Amino acid sequence: MNKLIKIAVLFLFIGCTQTSENKQSDNAINQKVDSLLSMMTLQEKIGQMNQYSVGAEMTGPNAATSLKEHYSRMINGQVGSVLNLLGAAETRKLQQLVIDSTRLKIPLIFAFDVIHGYRTMFPIPLAEAASWDLEATELSARIAAKEASAAGIQWTFAPMVDISRDARWGRVMEGAGEDPYLGSLIAQSRIRGFQGNDLSNATTIAACAKHFAGYGFAESGKDYNAVNVGLNTLHNYILPPFKASVEVGVATFMNAFNDIDGVPSTSNSYLLREVLDNRWAFDGVVVSDWNSIGELINHNVAVNKKEAALKAIQAGSDIDMEADAYIEYLEELVEEGAIKESRIDEAVRQILTLKYKLGLFDNPFKYCNEANEKKLLDHPSHHQASRDVASKSMVLLKNNKKLLPLKNVSSLGIIGPLAKDKDSPLGNWRGAVASNSAVSLYEGLEAKFGKKMKINYAEGCKLSIGPNNFFQEVEIEMKDKSGFNKAIQVARQSEVVIMALGETAYMSGETRSRAAIDLPGLQLELLKEIYKVNKNIILVLMNGRPLTIPWEAENIPAILEAWHLGSQAGHAIADVISGDVNPSGKLPMSFPRHVGQMPLYYNHLNTGRPTSDAVFYSHHMDVDNSALFPFGYGLSYTTFEYKNLEVKGNKEEIKIKVTLKNTGKEKGSEVAQLYLRDLSASISRPIKELKKFQKIALEVGEERVIEFTLTEKDVSFYTNKGELIYEAGAFEIFVGTNSMELLKETINLN
Ligand code: NOJ
Repeated sequence: MNKLIKIAVLFLFIGCTQTSENKQSDNAINQKVDSLLSMMTLQEKIGQMNQYSVGAEMTGPNAATSLKEHYSRMINGQVGSVLNLLGAAETRKLQQLVIDSTRLKIPLIFAFDVIHGYRTMFPIPLAEAASWDLEATELSARIAAKEASAAGIQWTFAPMVDISRDARWGRVMEGAGEDPYLGSLIAQSRIRGFQGNDLSNATTIAACAKHFAGYGFAESGKDYNAVNVGLNTLHNYILPPFKASVEVGVATFMNAFNDIDGVPSTSNSYLLREVLDNRWAFDGVVVSDWNSIGELINHNVAVNKKEAALKAIQAGSDIDMEADAYIEYLEELVEEGAIKESRIDEAVRQILTLKYKLGLFDNPFKYCNEANEKKLLDHPSHHQASRDVASKSMVLLKNNKKLLPLKNVSSLGIIGPLAKDKDSPLGNWRGAVASNSAVSLYEGLEAKFGKKMKINYAEGCKLSIGPNNFFQEVEIEMKDKSGFNKAIQVARQSEVVIMALGETAYMSGETRSRAAIDLPGLQLELLKEIYKVNKNIILVLMNGRPLTIPWEAENIPAILEAWHLGSQAGHAIADVISGDVNPSGKLPMSFPRHVGQMPLYYNHLNTGRPTSDAVFYSHHMDVDNSALFPFGYGLSYTTFEYKNLEVKGNKEEIKIKVTLKNTGKEKGSEVAQLYLRDLSASISRPIKELKKFQKIALEVGEERVIEFTLTEKDVSFYTNKGELIYEAGAFEIFVGTNSMELLKETINLN
């Protein structure tokens, strides 16, 4: 961390760790909630369970009622929270209206999808996960909370903690990738960042672990599609990040749109009652996803909205987002005896408790501070932090001719539809940032190299034509090659060419599933044309998911995965390209060779026929089983050597030591990864699972002994009944630079 960042971090953390004078004890809050609850009519209680969107960000069908009706319900005490209303002044106005007009003056909560920044955009979550840097992911959430809370928001629908193995699914950009351990730690760091240690502090906001559960396992990666996973997959892969979220006190959970084996998550009492309540003792709020209660009808488990409301409330969903199901039917259901009022009380108790914890009863306007909003949004220290986090999030995939870092070059060609794009780096789910406000790659390179080398530019081709926004399908450009000639000319005139290719922001994200995950449109064709005239190519990829890039990986000498890195993207990429920052990111998701390999993940089961000299084993006949770039993979401008792996101990404490040396010519950071394999158990266990990692900075020639400790819990697993058990036997321990290049030792545990 540079000095400026250190100061920013200190300032931010002091801001949120100072316990507010108003922080109240749980007991005091319980008493207040009980007393308020005893004054409420059934209608008022149900009102607290109703949530509407009052802004522009519609991510589904609108509630049956109009915006006008939403407002009239708000002033009648029939709405407990709203989403998508932004700004200190706007939220203050609505809060005032509700306080002035309702009998009990219960303040609203204002919610928003603050996914990777509010105004200052940080890298998309998948990119941040590639940093394997928990301080960085916490800091970015902290800054997002600071900005959002200054703009009247108290609740973010983040982090998305869905594990996914299928890069066709557009929402992989919003998660931490394919691994439950990395995913759990990142979820926890982001929740700590959003919530701090005191929700009533006006710079913190409530977080939401979503989407509970299984949403990332949609069949064929098609958003909202059916999910068919067994209890092994559910408990060992999908649920750990949710459990980890509860362990650090996440305030809320959100249902998922999908079903699991025919049972929609929104009405899934196994998930909500048995797992979340009984086993994990979660005592926060569960909100539905957008109209996911209404969608129980489409799932064919409810004949009408009334039955949908009944199933969702019985299962454990406390707030109805946008379905109008609770507000219209809960009262009737209670009167008919189908649902007990005590269940309504249980839900309302959680909602009121959250409002007390947020400090809204002490001061409903504490988050509506126009002066703070003006001061904090886009604060230079936030942008500096965004640049720093972005520079840690890139993954160097290839650097064969040592083209990188770029030094002593007389002329540089910058080519590609994303080179001057100031919008795509902002990523999807981009908070309240203005479109086209990121530092483009071209701007970053120009600022870094403009005085040192001649820069030539050509767009080459467009990536999309027509709509390219949150609400419409992106239309990919497939025909117009009129820009190719200029690009070829630029490549001819330049010593080295940087190609900026990938996806626009709206080619990943909710409902942006793709059947093919190669470079969309004409980009590969353009790249091949450039390659014919200049082979010194640095390919900078900007995308929201792993892509299939086999030709690129074989032919292009240098490839830098730069995702969608946020407001400061161009500067951060230039920092890495120039060598001012040595890349240290590692892939949080496998990059497949071919889309037909999907779902592809490193921690798979062995199967009965993993390999063979002959033909009868588990494989595709036309593509190798391995990933093109595996989970955990990422290069540096220096090199690292692992040696002397030692594994000792017993099940209570397994001590692992390994020596890591910087054998190259630059100082750099390496993520040392520890994987485990249980060789024989009562159910089949993965061929390896990430269990620990450490990010270590080493000077040139420096050597360090790294120590890891595993305990019984780390070598245990969930049975098909969802019970965590330990089974004695032989375990392989691997340590190394990615999930494939590893040293190995075996240990027997009793
Ligand atoms: C639908 C998305 O699935 C969810 O993640 C989001 O929080 C809501 N819409 C609200 O925007």
